[in-house]
Amino acid sequence: MSLADEIAASGLADYILPRFALKTGRRANIVTGDADARLASVEGAPPVMARGDIVFALVIEGENDAARRFADWLRSDVGQKTIAAFAPTDGPAFGPPPEVSVRTVTKIEGDAALGREVAEAHCARCHRIAPEMTGMTLGSTPSFSALKTLQDWSERFTAFYALNPHPSFLLVKGISPPFDPSRPPPIVPVEVTVDEVEALLAYVAQVPAADLGADIESR
Ligand code: HEC
Repeated sequence: MSLADEIAASGLADYILPRFALKTGRRANIVTGDADARLASVEGAPPVMARGDIVFALVIEGENDAARRFADWLRSDVGQKTIAAFAPTDGPAFGPPPEVSVRTVTKIEGDAALGREVAEAHCARCHRIAPEMTGMTLGSTPSFSALKTLQDWSERFTAFYALNPHPSFLLVKGISPPFDPSRPPPIVPVEVTVDEVEALLAYVAQVPAADLGADIESR
């Protein structure tokens, strides 16, 4: 069976196309013969979904805005959820292509070794910054491994200095506003640079995510 036939037989297109039209106000049709775009397993074209080991790409023929829009939509959160929500009567479900799940992570360019030093100096007194560290940390404070299990960990670590409780004691040079003079930091204030925040991200990227099935002590 060809890939196009496989998709047609699965009913996926019938499921997806009306939803695409609904969300975007655009209509798409399945045609045989000349098309603006076709689903195929092709190297080089951006993958839009996978079924088992087969990765499908939407190959756009020529300059076609609507087809490009459809490709963007398929790769968007809503598109990916729509694909994942479709339950074929036969065969395995469709899911995101391997690459899409990786793309949701911020590009990380900092120096991980520096990040580890920054974490030890400024974060470790409250957070368990590495699974092997078992020293004193504040019990209610999430470990870096636990934070790593969250899908948006990179966003949280990009913005942590603006998230409570950090603004009360931590500044990023050139970014954070000064402390409110009427509310002095409750602990010796911490000042980090933008490079150090990027280094922290690179370090955290290497910290393994906690096994949330394990007992709470190791989180
Ligand atoms: C004085 C203690 C303390 C220090 C020092 C500290 N944190 Fe935190 N941090 C906390 C607490 C408490 C929370 C949990 C806040 C909550 O759950 O509302 C937290 C939460 C976080 C979160 C999750 C934020 C969210 O809202 O999802 C990140 C990310 C984080 N910290 C990163 C860091 C980094 C990086 C450092 C070092 C530069 C650091 N923290 C230093 C106490 C601290």
